[in-house]
Amino acid sequence: MRCPSLLLSLAVFRALSPCALAASTLQANQTRVQHDAQVLILGGGVSGVIAARSLHEQGIHDFKIVEARDELGGRMRSFHFGAPGKQVVLELGANWIQGTQDGNGPANPILTLARKHGLKTVDSDLLGSMSTFDFTGTVDYLDVLNSAIDAFDNITNAAGARMPSAQVDTTARTGYSLVGVKPKTPAQKTCEYYLFDWEYAQTPEQSSWIASAWNTNFTYDTDVGGFSEDNLFAIDSRGFKHLIHAEADTFIVPGQILLNSTVRSIKHSNDGVEVTLVNGTTLNADYVICTFSLGVLQNDDVVFEPSLPGWKLEAVQSMVMATYTKIFLQFPEKFWFDTQFALYADKERGRYPVWQGLDIEGFFPGSGVLFVTVTGDYSVRIEALSDDQVQAEVLSVLHAMYPNITFPAPIAFHFPRWHSDPLYRGTYSNWPASFVEGHLTNLRANVGQRLWFTGEAMSEKYYGFLHGAYFEGEATGNTVAQCIRGAECAGLPHSQSIRNAQPYMLQP
Ligand SMILES: Cc1cc2nc3c(=O)[nH]c(=O)nc-3n(C[C@H](O)[C@H](O)[C@H](O)COP(=O)(O)OP(=O)(O)OC[C@H]3O[C@@H](n4cnc5c(N)ncnc54)[C@H](O)[C@@H]3O)c2cc1C
Ligand SMILES: *[C@@H]1O[C@H](CO)[C@@H](O)[C@H](O)[C@H]1NC(C)=O
Ligand SMILES: *[C@@H]1O[C@H](CO)[C@@H](O)[C@H](O)[C@H]1NC(C)=O
Ligand SMILES: *[C@@H]1O[C@H](CO)[C@@H](O)[C@H](O)[C@H]1NC(C)=O
Ligand SMILES: *[C@@H]1O[C@H](CO)[C@@H](O)[C@H](O)[C@H]1NC(C)=O
Ligand SMILES: *[C@@H]1O[C@H](CO)[C@@H](O)[C@H](O)[C@H]1NC(C)=O
Ligand SMILES: *[C@@H]1O[C@H](CO)[C@@H](O)[C@H](O)[C@H]1NC(C)=O
Repeated sequence: MRCPSLLLSLAVFRALSPCALAASTLQANQTRVQHDAQVLILGGGVSGVIAARSLHEQGIHDFKIVEARDELGGRMRSFHFGAPGKQVVLELGANWIQGTQDGNGPANPILTLARKHGLKTVDSDLLGSMSTFDFTGTVDYLDVLNSAIDAFDNITNAAGARMPSAQVDTTARTGYSLVGVKPKTPAQKTCEYYLFDWEYAQTPEQSSWIASAWNTNFTYDTDVGGFSEDNLFAIDSRGFKHLIHAEADTFIVPGQILLNSTVRSIKHSNDGVEVTLVNGTTLNADYVICTFSLGVLQNDDVVFEPSLPGWKLEAVQSMVMATYTKIFLQFPEKFWFDTQFALYADKERGRYPVWQGLDIEGFFPGSGVLFVTVTGDYSVRIEALSDDQVQAEVLSVLHAMYPNITFPAPIAFHFPRWHSDPLYRGTYSNWPASFVEGHLTNLRANVGQRLWFTGEAMSEKYYGFLHGAYFEGEATGNTVAQCIRGAECAGLPHSQSIRNAQPYMLQP
């Protein structure tokens, strides 16, 4: 569609026609002191950089990425760990390309970037390279692990069987119980944890049965369009983030990125947006694409003026921002398991359960590094403790795993506090049973024509994953580009209210 003359009366025209969106750029100096960009992309993680790339590919170069930290990458975040002279580059955030490519089938776009930019990765053998422990030391319960793998497959399949008839969602715990799996021993609970919580960063009780099933299918099951069953672990000394830095370098020019720039508020209207940074600087633009994490949106770390409408707030507050915490230890030398992974079954479910040794061939031999992961409420719990307290707990578990070995104190120790970090407020989103598809539609939807949202949490199929952030950033960049070019700007749909399929009929 071509737009008629730009000289039409603005106010009336804007309210009625999508062409107004194209016009506003040209009219900007009539209402603004300064026009900083056509599009401000708030946040320079995977979705922000890929949204920028979509704009660029559509011929829109007047954009700026505004990022609080001093580099791009967001939740792809590497750090130097270890005592002086024994340092390695490890990942605080995302670490795996989850689901790769099967033959000539669909490729995970993160794999495609890794190939393009020569990222160093290693095969991660999640199910085949495992040692098992409990609070008495080494105990072989690999048979229990195998049955937990079966149980997870069974709930994934049973969830699929429920979907066509659109039965209501329930929790994954209901799913496990209905397929007859009721873990009771510490080993059974730990193996279930490994298959479930260690992926979703929350318990089966806290997670949707149906959504967690399709989320795993669309990534791992090639029968339904998933990439592959494989996982690649990034071990590049430039950090996993290298692939997003290198991709940004292919199209971004100086001036298109503002680093060290923390957003405090976003003022939006049908005329445009005004973004205010914590240092007081104000940036004006026609459009804003907000890529902040779900946790940031939930916690008012950034203020919207006017505040977001009810339908948007309900969607934002109904999805969950979960937390997945890696706790790194370095010892003068390795004294532990030779496998890639180890499980520790405590009497308390989720207490320091999943261990990974990095001091092995193909990873970081000679590094003396291993790490343990906790998730969900347990992550929130340890963030409130001091580093020394957490280290003491972790060492007591290692002593339980190795009752007959005397080992020295660690020479390095570190864990990130993602849940408390105002730039993230958690690690990635998880879909609870009370979240319905209409909520996801509203989570993704733009508010008015100027304020757009994207990021990992908005991906229906791949929420939580890097590739979810990638696909959402790509889609949002393309949609906003269409609006700018004035071709069409219907925006994304939303519902004013999310309803039950049938009203409740409460008994007297
Ligand atoms: C510990 C951990 C482990 C993970 N493991 C994996 C994995 O192995 N595989 C996988 O596929 N995925 C994994 N993920 C998930 C993956 O990292 C995310 O899905 C993805 O990186 C999200 O990208 P994003 O662009 O949506 O958001 P982000 O990366 O969060 O980007 C948003 C950006 O906004 C910035 N920002 C926030 N607030 C402000 C502000 N006020 N002003 C300016 N800038 C601001 C942030 O600094 C950030 O750079 C993991 C995540 C974490 C944290
Ligand atoms: C807007 O900018 C254009 C080009 O610089 C100028 O010709 C025009 O007079 C300006 N309009 C207003 C209202 O300032
Ligand atoms: C951002 O801040 C860091 C440290 O505070 C500084 O080293 C870096 O030069 C800054 N970068 C930019 C682009 O301002
Ligand atoms: C530890 O040593 C005791 C006593 O020698 C022995 O009974 C026990 O089996 C050992 N435990 C492990 C895990 O090796
Ligand atoms: C999974 O389902 C299969 C087929 O119904 C069944 O034989 C198997 O026992 C189930 N496994 C678990 C752990 O429930
Ligand atoms: C997941 O994939 C399996 C096997 O392809 C299928 O049986 C099941 O219905 C799927 N489940 C969902 C929720 O998509
Ligand atoms: C505030 O931040 C912006 C963007 O990073 C920068 O251009 C500007 O110079 C800063 N202003 C002050 C007063 O520091």
